Amino acid sequence: MATRLFEGKDHASVYLKYRFSPPEKLQEVVFSYLENKKVTSFQLAVDVGCGSGQSTLWLAKRFEKVVGTDISEAQIEEAKQAAHPANVSYLVCPAENLPFKDNSVDFIMSFAAVHWFDLPSFMKEVERVLKPSGCVAFSTNCLDMQLHYKDCTEKLTEIFQEFRKRTFEYANDRVRRVQDDYQMVFEALPFQDKQRITDIYGAVPFTVAGVLGYFQTFSMYQTFLKAEPEAAKSLIQNTEKRILEVMGVSSLETPLEMRMRHVAVLGCKNS
Ligand SMILES: C[S@@+](CC[C@H](N)C(=O)[O-])C[C@H]1O[C@@H](n2cnc3c(N)ncnc32)[C@H](O)[C@@H]1O
Repeated sequence: MATRLFEGKDHASVYLKYRFSPPEKLQEVVFSYLENKKVTSFQLAVDVGCGSGQSTLWLAKRFEKVVGTDISEAQIEEAKQAAHPANVSYLVCPAENLPFKDNSVDFIMSFAAVHWFDLPSFMKEVERVLKPSGCVAFSTNCLDMQLHYKDCTEKLTEIFQEFRKRTFEYANDRVRRVQDDYQMVFEALPFQDKQRITDIYGAVPFTVAGVLGYFQTFSMYQTFLKAEPEAAKSLIQNTEKRILEVMGVSSLETPLEMRMRHVAVLGCKNS
């Protein structure tokens, strides 16, 4: 069954503002996989669970047509409003029922989303819509992120871990699929030719405000906010105060960096 999170308008707009594209390193891993597999058809790529489109746009430089799909109307509305090239379009639909013909898609990707899907139904759709020799890349950033600023990395990362611990009691069960580095996703992919990479590192430039905004995009934070609005808001305020104190700055626009590990499950149909 599909898990209906990320649906609210407010959640969708924090997404557009604070989420980031898959890091360069991950993009390199994906494109060199397609090269190794000698993929020659670049007609149609689909980004399933595209949210407000951050993970969709980078495909536009390689594929003739890119379609981002998401179960959430609010997310797709945000994606449509944001600037995007003419070869990118968006559709509301569940990952478990993709509106594409059999054997019609060259590449399916999903960033920070596949763990939310009903895996058996989604994988059936993947097998159905992919062309023979079509490829997939299912990837996510992991939970062991680090915040870097001058010599405060350890303390800042500790603050992040405490934030995560407080919100984790509101985590959906499907977050376990991220905790196991996509092993379950790997096992569910019905292709012989597949691999799982667990050590793709990337750094994303943020500001303090951006970090706090990003934290608020977490589904577990949004669930916490619905259940205990006052406690959730004060967690953000307190986290903000502690981050500024540790960094010894007062401006929310002070830049810092978030370093993240990513995992990717890559596969090729029929080869
Ligand atoms: C963490 S967000 C990732 C969004 C985007 N890929 C990104 O990188 O920012 C997960 C997205 O998956 C979508 N989603 C969850 N379950 C879904 C399903 N069953 N079918 C399609 N989309 C789904 C949510 O609506 C949400 O936009």
